[in-house]
Amino acid sequence: MISSAMEKALNDQINKELYSAYYYYAMAAYLENQGFEGMANFMKAQAVEETSHAQKFYHYVNEQGGRVVLEAIDKPPVEYDSPKQIFELGLEHEKFVTSRIHNLVSLATDEKDYATKSFLDWFVKEQVEEEATMDAIVNKFNMIGNAGHGLFMLDAKLGERAPASSEGEDD
Ligand code: FEO
Repeated sequence: MISSAMEKALNDQINKELYSAYYYYAMAAYLENQGFEGMANFMKAQAVEETSHAQKFYHYVNEQGGRVVLEAIDKPPVEYDSPKQIFELGLEHEKFVTSRIHNLVSLATDEKDYATKSFLDWFVKEQVEEEATMDAIVNKFNMIGNAGHGLFMLDAKLGERAPASSEGEDD
């Protein structure tokens, strides 16, 4: 069993993971419209991964006898300045998600809720990867600057990311 405070906090995280998916789909839509199909592919795969994160929380709340309650998802931005800005925003967003996961761990620790703390371990590790992935791409943008050839190569590279499974195959 989880406390009602934990149930609320986990439900809120379901909302934030689904917002993450929505945000990355919005970025993908912008990139696709600008002709960066590879980068759009990367962001679509990222969006699918975010829905798998939401599913993990959904499953856990049910498993612990809680009730999943879905709230409205915020509207993500429509317009962006550049592909580089999109990945900078992606990195910033992942840092925000990391801070939220850490807050959940703090709550679980305060409540001596060791089951939830153990469940959250996966997300703590996942966030290290999520930030590292976005950070590596931002670094590549910094290397290539505004060079068209570099952008073309990076677009092709990011297009190689395989579509993620919505069933959370990244376990
Ligand atoms: Fe679900 Fe990218 O954190």
